[in-house]
Amino acid sequence: MLLFIILYNVLTVDANTKCMSRDSTVVPKYYLIEKCHRSKLSVAFKANFSTLNSCRRLALEKQALALNFSPSGYGKMSRKPVEYTCEVLKCAESEGGLSLKNDTDYDYYSIYAKHLPNVNSSCVPLAGMFYLLSEKNNYTEAERSCRNMSSVLAGVFNEQRTDTLAQVLASSGVEAAYVGLRSNNGSVFRTTHGDSLDCTTYRAWAPGHPRRNLNMSCVVLTRKHTWKTTLCRKSYPALCELLPGGPYRKGTIFPKVKASSQKKSSKIMNAHQKFKSLAPEKVGHNKNAKLPMAKILQYPELRVNPFKDRICKVFSSSNDGDCTFEDFLDMMSVFCDNAPKAVKAEHAFRIFDFDGDDMIGVSDLREVIERLCGTELKLSDSEIQQLVQNVLEEADLDDDGALSFAEFEHIIDKSSDFCQSFRIRL
Ligand SMILES: *[C@@H]1O[C@H](CO)[C@@H](O)[C@H](O)[C@H]1NC(C)=O
Ligand SMILES: *[C@@H]1O[C@H](CO)[C@@H](O)[C@H](O)[C@H]1NC(C)=O
Ligand SMILES: *[C@@H]1O[C@H](CO)[C@@H](O)[C@H](O)[C@H]1NC(C)=O
Ligand SMILES: *[C@@H]1O[C@H](CO)[C@@H](O)[C@H](O)[C@H]1NC(C)=O
Ligand SMILES: *[C@@H]1O[C@H](CO)[C@@H](O)[C@H](O)[C@H]1NC(C)=O
Ligand SMILES: *[C@@H]1O[C@H](CO)[C@@H](O)[C@H](O)[C@H]1NC(C)=O
Ligand SMILES: *[C@@H]1O[C@H](CO)[C@@H](O)[C@H](O)[C@H]1NC(C)=O
Repeated sequence: MLLFIILYNVLTVDANTKCMSRDSTVVPKYYLIEKCHRSKLSVAFKANFSTLNSCRRLALEKQALALNFSPSGYGKMSRKPVEYTCEVLKCAESEGGLSLKNDTDYDYYSIYAKHLPNVNSSCVPLAGMFYLLSEKNNYTEAERSCRNMSSVLAGVFNEQRTDTLAQVLASSGVEAAYVGLRSNNGSVFRTTHGDSLDCTTYRAWAPGHPRRNLNMSCVVLTRKHTWKTTLCRKSYPALCELLPGGPYRKGTIFPKVKASSQKKSSKIMNAHQKFKSLAPEKVGHNKNAKLPMAKILQYPELRVNPFKDRICKVFSSSNDGDCTFEDFLDMMSVFCDNAPKAVKAEHAFRIFDFDGDDMIGVSDLREVIERLCGTELKLSDSEIQQLVQNVLEEADLDDDGALSFAEFEHIIDKSSDFCQSFRIRL
């Protein structure tokens, strides 16, 4: 078996001298998006660097989509120095930059510095941002529609992309969509960047595919996580992948915030009323009032939530559970019905990551189970142990004894009612 794999690798390398490495196709740059802001998306790696260039290099090496950097000189005003000056992030801000927070210690950089199309995009951590165009078109038109929105038909050449994108299809109720894979003559399939499929070993062909036939030369991804060849003139929705790049023009990247600010203002007023009602004497007309966690916990929907203190801590800009009105608004926007699933998932992960190590480990899982089952159920230690084991067996795909964000997202994508349950009514 091993011999076969080695033989196969030798053969594919020989057969294809024209294999571009991933790095040579796209070397992303990190563009300054917001000064004095820090993204709260999950961190892939962090380090203490004194120069932006070192931080950019780390980000490149780790294939990060964005980074927070704290230049020396920042943080002098605040009492405590930052823990790490460089945080490289698995995903980049989208959908209005919901996880971007004012933070005078950091500047936020991203590889996506062009206008982001007004679509619900999904992040594949450390790979890119993707979205579904549900309008059906033939392959050439699908390609053109993506390109019109700074995108290309999505690459599916590894398992992570194929799996995540299949979940995007499933959650949109779409059976199959065009992706960036086609052939001229039914034998050699190429990606959007012109790389031959023979450059990689991953395949997800459905049984009986690819059809080696001149007219079945375009590829769709199905919601069953498989690839199928099809006639290029047939109409399908398109899966697009955002192309990194700039240059950045201030204020152009997050369309949603601007587009809906009018409609939002009444919602904001409404939220402010609720905020004020928690401590009328303190809030009054003071827009910068900060309420202690104990007050926030009196919000009726929070009071009954087993993770209420964690929720406060995750949204608190001072990380201690005390919330300003801005923090409170962030909380409401993430828990509202139409917040993007990816944003909800990101926050759920933080809420469950009690020790803040960017993994949901055994101790985090125990805590989650204990809180979910409440005190009435009184599970024994061994029962909890068993439950933790069951979760890990099902979801810990790389067997490292803890759930990474990607693994966690995978569970959430499988549970269709996650968005329904992860919400608070305003
Ligand atoms: C990073 O550097 C800052 C300032 O030099 C220092 O206060 C902080 O403790 C360092 N963090 C780590 C984790 O070494
Ligand atoms: C964040 O910074 C901007 C620009 O400096 C300012 O207008 C805004 O009020 C700040 N928001 C908070 C919550 O401090
Ligand atoms: C994003 O998703 C939400 C909820 O599914 C939907 O209401 C909204 O219209 C979508 N926005 C776009 C631009 O597709
Ligand atoms: C390209 O996008 C613009 C708006 O950004 C739209 O008006 C136009 O119809 C689009 N063209 C195609 C071919 O989709
Ligand atoms: C298909 O085209 C590729 C080049 O694009 C060529 O190497 C290959 O021999 C062709 N196969 C057939 C069956 O024509
Ligand atoms: C496929 O192409 C061949 C010619 O290359 C043609 O005879 C045949 O009708 C085509 N099949 C379909 C289903 O279009
Ligand atoms: C795809 O659709 C466009 C517009 O509907 C049409 O002009 C084009 O010829 C079609 N291409 C193919 C290969 O069917």
